Amino acid sequence: MSDFGKLYAADSHDLLLQYLKEGSDTLATLADRKGSPRLAPHRYSKDAFYDLVDAYSDFPEESQDPKTQIHQMVSDLYVGIPRWRSPRQQYNVGTAVNAAASAAYSLALDESILNVNDGLAGNTLVAEQAVTNIIAGLAKLPHKAYGIFTFGGTATNMYGMKIGLKKAHPDSSRKGLRQNVKVFVTAEAHFSHLAAADWLGIGVDNIVKIKPTRDRSSDLEDLETKLRATLDEGDRIGVIIINGGTTYDHIIDDIPAVVKLRDKLVKEYTLDYVPHLHVDTVIGWGWLVFEGYNWKANPLHISVKTLAKLKHQYDRIKYVRLADSWGIDFHKGIGGCPVDCSMVIINKFEDAMLLSRKTNTGADIHQLADEYSFASPVDYTLETSRSSGAPLAALTALRTLGREGYRRHLANLVEQSGYAREKLSGQPYMQIANDKSNGFTIMLRLLPPEFPKVKLDDELKGLSDKLRKRSELITRYTKEFFTWDFQNRLNKGVGPEYSFSKCYFTGPNGVDLNALKFYPVSPLYSREHADELVDTMTKQQKLFNETVWQSS
Ligand SMILES: Cc1ncc(COP(=O)(O)O)c(C=O)c1O
Repeated sequence: MSDFGKLYAADSHDLLLQYLKEGSDTLATLADRKGSPRLAPHRYSKDAFYDLVDAYSDFPEESQDPKTQIHQMVSDLYVGIPRWRSPRQQYNVGTAVNAAASAAYSLALDESILNVNDGLAGNTLVAEQAVTNIIAGLAKLPHKAYGIFTFGGTATNMYGMKIGLKKAHPDSSRKGLRQNVKVFVTAEAHFSHLAAADWLGIGVDNIVKIKPTRDRSSDLEDLETKLRATLDEGDRIGVIIINGGTTYDHIIDDIPAVVKLRDKLVKEYTLDYVPHLHVDTVIGWGWLVFEGYNWKANPLHISVKTLAKLKHQYDRIKYVRLADSWGIDFHKGIGGCPVDCSMVIINKFEDAMLLSRKTNTGADIHQLADEYSFASPVDYTLETSRSSGAPLAALTALRTLGREGYRRHLANLVEQSGYAREKLSGQPYMQIANDKSNGFTIMLRLLPPEFPKVKLDDELKGLSDKLRKRSELITRYTKEFFTWDFQNRLNKGVGPEYSFSKCYFTGPNGVDLNALKFYPVSPLYSREHADELVDTMTKQQKLFNETVWQSS
């Protein structure tokens, strides 16, 4: 039996460091290849997974040796995890964690700091406000903004929706929600927007989806028609959430145009409220780091093509200052923080007041002894138990990398993936599905031997049966290729890893267009890795054609 006291150190972190060392050494033994996209590349088998569930479902009678437990658990349970720092890992929108940010988060977890009020958080409460100020500076917000750390990008959208509901139905905190409310989201929206409507009691049937245009940004004529229809029906507009950097293509909608449209309708319909505009910028916020960059002198020597893409994105995202609220995920893309590390920015402090528990519901938060605190963000938050780890990590990431570090990181991702994209699009049997994107992901469809050089525009042009069948065949081919590559290579952790999206979008021909998704996030991603990726894909496709594919 181990010594019970071994688990607690009164006033030092010696034990934490020892256990971290034990875990980290064990991790190192699992990483059998430098730059491998996963730890212990052989991922999971369902049976082995459920055997582990059984093995670990035992609550021992006596205490166990901590180091042995940690060693065992890391050996068994960290198997198959994606390594976001590896440039070969392009599976999804994770982030390569900045080690200093990770240390800041870990320490806050070890001290179990509650980001509630100064009584429970001490001076760590500074971090949330300082990050808000840094971000407000990047966005050049004209008013005093309010920033709240919360549980993921999902929650940032939920906050946007909640504030919108308070504007549309000011008495909803007390009386509940009356049903004549519609919320507007885009066809390209992340599924979290639907989740928010569900969890907030709005109901997904009250969601109105804004159609996309060919470049995947929102069709503002469609938005206007649908907003008018809602108002004509006598319904209220709960919120309008638009794209601020979509998951796949990083598309940013025309924010000023939506603000103008909303304000026009407020006047025309003499609304007694201004519908709330939230922008889902949890990924797209990253382009704000180019605030103040000298595009002409280009001190970072960014290539002409990449510079144009970055500027295009920055020139759209900079208008978040005109919206009402927006979100940031530091655990995605260039953020560099451990999951979760998200914040919602509310451009005007008065709007944050709409969230106040005390004012809106009369809740007495005496359990938190708030009368002895001079700062009590908890009054505005959904969660009570928020860790100070997230804001501390974000502040550490921002301060250790600095503007230049973030700019270099983003520019490199756009540069290298742009290079890979061009090389892939030059292959006769490959089609770039997100050819209009200025971001850093690649959505790739593979063309079967009978259909070389089909560009997406050609594929979408015709509505005839013959063309639809061609589209379906490309879809089937791409899926079968992925299934084969997954079983034979990706699952074994060999070479670069990407993933599969079964419905990148539904084409005008009614076919669900799938695509292979390459989502680089590592600052170590270089030309060499981009070349390796293109080589791997071309070789694998050739092998698939020779050994597996049968068109009929
Ligand atoms: C655009 C967008 N919004 C919201 C989310 C949800 O974020 P989270 O998974 O952190 O809740 C995602 C996740 O990928 C996203 O891409």
